[in-house]
Amino acid sequence: MSNPASPPAAGVVDDRPPLTFPPGFLWGAATAAYQIEGAAAEGGRTPSIWDTFSHTPGRVVEGHTGDVACDHYHRMGSDVALMAELGLKSYRFSVSWPRVQPGGTGPANAEGLDFYRRLVDELLGHGIEPWLTLYHWDLPQPLEDAGGWPARDSAARFADYATLVADALGDRVRYWTTLNEPWCSAFLGYGSGVHAPGRSDGADAVRAGHHLMLGHGLAVQALRAARPTAEVGVTVNLYPVTPATDAPADVDAARRIDGLANRFFLDPLLRGSYPADLMADLAGVTDFGHVRDGDLATISTPLDVVGVNYYSRHVVAAPVPGAEPEPYWRAPSCWPGSEDVRFVTRGVPVTDMNWEIDAPGLVETLRRVHEEYTDLPLYVTENGSAFVDEVVDGQVDDVDRLAYFDAHLRAAHEAIEAGVPLRGYFAWSLMDNFEWAWGYTKRFGMVHVDYDSQVRIPKSSARWYAEVIRRNGLAAQ
Ligand code: FCB
Repeated sequence: MSNPASPPAAGVVDDRPPLTFPPGFLWGAATAAYQIEGAAAEGGRTPSIWDTFSHTPGRVVEGHTGDVACDHYHRMGSDVALMAELGLKSYRFSVSWPRVQPGGTGPANAEGLDFYRRLVDELLGHGIEPWLTLYHWDLPQPLEDAGGWPARDSAARFADYATLVADALGDRVRYWTTLNEPWCSAFLGYGSGVHAPGRSDGADAVRAGHHLMLGHGLAVQALRAARPTAEVGVTVNLYPVTPATDAPADVDAARRIDGLANRFFLDPLLRGSYPADLMADLAGVTDFGHVRDGDLATISTPLDVVGVNYYSRHVVAAPVPGAEPEPYWRAPSCWPGSEDVRFVTRGVPVTDMNWEIDAPGLVETLRRVHEEYTDLPLYVTENGSAFVDEVVDGQVDDVDRLAYFDAHLRAAHEAIEAGVPLRGYFAWSLMDNFEWAWGYTKRFGMVHVDYDSQVRIPKSSARWYAEVIRRNGLAAQ
């Protein structure tokens, strides 16, 4: 592709050197089933918690649903051709559980599996490595009706589903992610209720987090049994958590939020234990009676890779009595036991999600996972930004998104130089899509989607990324 746009803004002298990534670095882009597929009631698919949630008035901005989304189910062939045109080395997608196992129990739905078989074959035919995520938030509704993730049985159901998908696709998919961002499933789904299924109970959120991880461990074992050569991992969303000042009360607020956001998952998954301070913080919420002997050993079943999703940093401060919480963190809270911690905005540039742009935080996050938790290969399985885009003469010149990617790729490279075994990077997202509670109002894509016509337009960031992939790195400016 010609003439890739490059940051920084015109007129600004930039003497940054070109950066080359290690040979074989896996350059990709990511999506998720409910966010792009549409065809919600076709091919034997039945509702997930996100169908129910999005069809409940007041839950999603403007009442948007994933019924049609990007219509990827019907446009898969041309979407893969677009990926090939961009030169993607890998594509991370998720399988819709209720498409391949409607209801969440019982036999596979052949028509549903066939869609993913065709997708994988199409990718392989274009030399694109498929990266399959089993769970990107679309729990079959009947499993929610039976208690959802706070119920222990959901973990076993998830392992059965993993076996069913591995039996069907294991011969052609090498990379497997069990869960995407269990923090969101547990704490936004069952804590604040801003995500499906929209329940708000701190103890349920903690139980959900545990059973998600238990399901992950059982699924890792199921995948290995079905496909011994599979490369298996999990994807967690991590944030550096910084105290607003070095006052002890702010430092303690940061410790608490770091416990809930990061260590709640990293410690059980990679060390086989819950942090003692986190359990103490949660003492008023739960007694952890849902944790059974052997669970943590299952949860910490060895992995082959670890996926990190990175978007931003949290800066927090001690509670101020009577202060209004930030709207995003409003009660009911996604921080059980630490509801009154304040999330502070520093006045640095933000994306259209109001998330602070903090590329150094990616270096910090990757180094922490490597230095404190594991020697396993790491992959950035999501990183990206929402900005308001404008189509002008059939083009979208998304300079802010492009600059975000550029800054974060420089950070990824810095992490590699610091010794992090980072093996790949997936941009979020391949194309604009259904951004959960924000519906179609937030655009994260490198490819613009017109939701009326379903026309795709690669934005400047997509053309630039194609050039990054072609060079295996960033050009001199
Ligand atoms: C992550 C999700 C992904 C997308 C991005 C913006 O939390 O995994 O589906 O919504 O945020």
